[in-house]
Amino acid sequence: MRAIRVSKFGGEDVLKLEKNVPIPQPKEKQVLIKVFASGINPVDTYIRSGTYAVKPSLPYTPGADVAGVIESVGPGVQQYKKGDRVFTARTVSGGYAEYAVADVSTTQPLDDTLTFEQGAGIGVPYFTAYRAVRLVGKGKPGDTILVHGASGAVGLACVQIANSIGMTVIGTAGTEEGMDIVSNNGADIVINHREDRTNDHGPNLIIEMLANVNLETDMKIVVGNRGTVEEEWKQMHAGIQAGMKVGWLKPHIAKEYTLEQAASAHRDIINNSGSQGKLVIKI
Ligand SMILES: NC(=O)c1ccc[n+]([C@@H]2O[C@H](COP(=O)([O-])OP(=O)(O)OC[C@H]3O[C@@H](n4cnc5c(N)ncnc54)[C@H](OP(=O)(O)O)[C@@H]3O)[C@@H](O)[C@H]2O)c1
Repeated sequence: MRAIRVSKFGGEDVLKLEKNVPIPQPKEKQVLIKVFASGINPVDTYIRSGTYAVKPSLPYTPGADVAGVIESVGPGVQQYKKGDRVFTARTVSGGYAEYAVADVSTTQPLDDTLTFEQGAGIGVPYFTAYRAVRLVGKGKPGDTILVHGASGAVGLACVQIANSIGMTVIGTAGTEEGMDIVSNNGADIVINHREDRTNDHGPNLIIEMLANVNLETDMKIVVGNRGTVEEEWKQMHAGIQAGMKVGWLKPHIAKEYTLEQAASAHRDIINNSGSQGKLVIKI
């Protein structure tokens, strides 16, 4: 199969497209997904550069989030059959590839109303946002939330989640286009973080996308971990499935790349200003 392989940590040019990578095989309680789209996340670039706390053994294929259809299942998997539409936030073998293995416990059905590109935009952004707004931030109807950096993938997910439960949402973006998207995704008030500052009437909850720049002026920041990881995963899965069914969960795709353009995608996710949602690789 075609897949991106990284043989040494470094800049974007260590992302190499290989054409004869063996298709990974699902083990017990794993599924093999035929990948149609793969999400690009900032963490993919931290891992690739070798600066991230967790380092994969080399060589490896980057990418956690994919959407596609089940190709085959390993022993002990009853929930899925060949052809089922799914997405995952945790590939085991890497997402920038034509096929990827994932644990069945991290694999979820992808609703027919969403495209595969949108499916690849759910995983890391929506799990992060759901956990920040609902599980750790304890956002509730009537609360006000400031999403500082709402025009990117995690920010827009926060806006949609907060809006869906009746919070008053203040979202920020760095450009007019980004501000429009934040507004169209449910923010009540939109601020340009390159121009305006929030004033005295502060929100109950702040979700911060650039803590190194803004932490000193934020009142409250989401940190910490409460409850067991399994319990949180269960809640996040249920909340995200409900979001697809009800219809508020709609990843906004900013740009699509090919596998050959993986290096450009990595450059863009770190350097772009004027975010307009999610970057994905279309396989
Ligand atoms: N802790 C976790 O588990 C976790 C998980 C996922 C992501 N993250 C982190 O969350 C951040 C966002 O991820 P993402 O996937 O949403 O990235 P993204 O799509 O590239 O979005 C980046 C966001 O940051 C905004 N931003 C830029 N300058 C800003 C400033 N001065 N003040 C406030 N916001 C600013 C951007 O707005 P404009 O472009 O409109 O200026 C955009 O909304 C990244 O730092 C990522 O590493 C953490």
